[in-house]
Amino acid sequence: METLRFGFIGAGRISSSSAKSLSNHERCRLVAVQDLSQERRDALADEFDIKHRFETADQLFACEEVDAVYIAVPNKFHAELTIAAMQAGKHVLLEKPFAMTAAEGEEVIRVAEQTGKALTIGMNQRYLPDAQKIRSLVANGALGEIYYAKAFWFRREGIPKLGTWFGNKALAGAGAINDIGVHLLDLCLHTMGNFDPVSVFGTTYTKFGNRGLGEGGWGISDATDITFDVDDLATAMIRMSNGATVNLEVAWAAHLEEKNRMNVELFGTEAGASLYPAKLYKRDPLDADYRIVENVAADVPLAHADRFHNFANHLLDGEPLLVTPQQALVVQRILDAVAESCRTGKAVEL
Ligand SMILES: NC(=O)c1ccc[n+]([C@@H]2O[C@H](COP(=O)([O-])OP(=O)(O)OC[C@H]3O[C@@H](n4cnc5c(N)ncnc54)[C@H](O)[C@@H]3O)[C@@H](O)[C@H]2O)c1
Repeated sequence: METLRFGFIGAGRISSSSAKSLSNHERCRLVAVQDLSQERRDALADEFDIKHRFETADQLFACEEVDAVYIAVPNKFHAELTIAAMQAGKHVLLEKPFAMTAAEGEEVIRVAEQTGKALTIGMNQRYLPDAQKIRSLVANGALGEIYYAKAFWFRREGIPKLGTWFGNKALAGAGAINDIGVHLLDLCLHTMGNFDPVSVFGTTYTKFGNRGLGEGGWGISDATDITFDVDDLATAMIRMSNGATVNLEVAWAAHLEEKNRMNVELFGTEAGASLYPAKLYKRDPLDADYRIVENVAADVPLAHADRFHNFANHLLDGEPLLVTPQQALVVQRILDAVAESCRTGKAVEL
């Protein structure tokens, strides 16, 4: 394959920045777009000179000029559209979160295996050079045994546009934890190199969005008077099979000093690390002095640092996919467990 021709399902906020990523890859072309909103479909098509504009996803999936599909629509439709795309012979880059439930994710993986189509999930934080550096250091053993990790993303006022699908459980599955928690959880497990959770205790809260407070800038879907019934703050304590603990905290809105606070912090027996930006904490063996290494020197295996480029290079040249569906499924199982733990008040065994 010389060139990879993409079709976009969804022409919302993230699709516009994704189209820019794609246009930076010299062997990718964006040839088709579909969105329920004609206005947004046309806006994306005009901006990126897209040849085909479709009213339905099935029309796009039937288009022979499309090799691969990018799916960026409300979470409720992720699994069914991904399955339909693969069954129509298309490779899929699906936005996060993987699905509404792990059972849906399992079905998506079953169809990917059955059809032999490539599938990855849009965990774009993993590609950041700082994240790649810390992952390289961990893989080389620089931190020793990682026994504790903290992953957090707090926004003071960062709920996507109120009244849109983001705040509605039937369309989004969950709130802050599905939107931004999923990134930090995935990033934390990835940098630890540990996708083997055994139990989860979680709590979720809805304290801002239901009062019409805490709105930020995300989402360009049309606001309706749809109910806000998802979490705007969530926590999880995840125990891994090797005894390590992961502590996840996420909020779309909360009273706090900073507008935005996010990081992954890893605690190892030989060193500690944090990701935003990449820093290493360790005692220097030569002078026994404690060092905070600000400019971490480590490998960045994927210099393009971009999920679209990884997916395209995988299909065009066989570059390994950084994000596998099996890893995304583990993350989804944890999200399911947080919801169940919150319902029952008990830890959930996986
Ligand atoms: N990787 C990231 O960092 C990142 C960032 C933002 C959003 N996302 C994900 O991307 C997806 C879209 O988010 P967004 O911010 O672009 O939302 P958005 O509300 O801005 O846009 C969603 C678009 O989907 C369209 N749509 C709704 N239902 C559809 C359907 N059944 N078929 C076709 N089109 C449909 C809407 O008309 C709208 O244009 C979500 O799953 C979200 O979690 C990922």
